[in-house]
Amino acid sequence: MPSRFLDPEQAKKHAEHRFDFGRKSLGGKVVLVPGGVGGLGAAITALLLQDGALPVVGYRSQRGRALAFQQKMQDLYGGPITLVEGDIQDPAVRERYLQAALDVKGDLYGLVALPGDPARVKADELDGAALAASFKANYEAPVLLARAAAGIMSQKATKGAIVLFSSMQGVHPFEGSLAYAGPKAALIQAGLILAKEYGGATDIRVNVVAPGATTAGMARASIDSGKYDAYVEHGVIPRFGKPEDVAKVVRLLLEPDGYLTGQVITVDGGLTLRRDRLP
Ligand SMILES: NC(=O)c1ccc[n+]([C@@H]2O[C@H](COP(=O)([O-])OP(=O)(O)OC[C@H]3O[C@@H](n4cnc5c(N)ncnc54)[C@H](OP(=O)(O)O)[C@@H]3O)[C@@H](O)[C@H]2O)c1
Repeated sequence: MPSRFLDPEQAKKHAEHRFDFGRKSLGGKVVLVPGGVGGLGAAITALLLQDGALPVVGYRSQRGRALAFQQKMQDLYGGPITLVEGDIQDPAVRERYLQAALDVKGDLYGLVALPGDPARVKADELDGAALAASFKANYEAPVLLARAAAGIMSQKATKGAIVLFSSMQGVHPFEGSLAYAGPKAALIQAGLILAKEYGGATDIRVNVVAPGATTAGMARASIDSGKYDAYVEHGVIPRFGKPEDVAKVVRLLLEPDGYLTGQVITVDGGLTLRRDRLP
């Protein structure tokens, strides 16, 4: 007696070894991308445009830079991009971001929450204020935005996808990263909780990406300073990460009708796995 949850058409196809691997299009789907002007965000926005999605890109305050970015991306990859301004640490701005996405066509399919702060604090200057500032930037703002987005998707019965951004420092203990890594590790736990709360029949997938040393964005300064050279020199990683490496994983996690949720994917070329190989 087959389960009543088994699709008979699909079961028949599979019995005949006829499988459907066709990637489902993001065409016409509204995806909110706060931080989409940044180093990793730009590659993600480009891939979304290539896929026909409708990205709503959030930037903090540099309007001129955002407008130039919008024009360049539309020239290179086709459009349109909607821009929304403001600091998502402000609850009113988070509402504005979500409203800007809903204004496109009354629905929100995806959220890719990129904003974060490297929280570079010297060891002897690390205090409660520094930790609290990092918590607000790297945990509070993205988590509350993600929860509000999940609430909207759930209310509209949209089987959407949410991607949060942690870091390799959030999955592996790196010396000197107390301020940055704590909230980034907590963000992973928040992602799992949201995945649990909005999973099942509601089917809103929530996953976390943890990039390694990538050549664009906030890690670029560290790469330029030579901080990560030893990892390549001693064969711990084959090369530095590229923004495209991260964008492709985000695309996978945004796949309509995807079957991945509550996962953290570390996109670091094996850096955390093989870090002990450094002499
Ligand atoms: N790049 C890497 O190798 C790497 C490695 C590990 C983890 N990550 C994580 O990946 C995410 C993206 O990093 P990225 O390298 O692309 O950084 P990025 O180049 O600095 O871009 C971050 C973007 O987010 C915006 N932003 C930051 N805080 C915001 C806020 N409170 N409200 C609105 N917008 C805000 C920034 O705007 P402004 O330019 O106006 O400040 C910027 O456009 C971050 O969460 C980061 O921790 C990156």
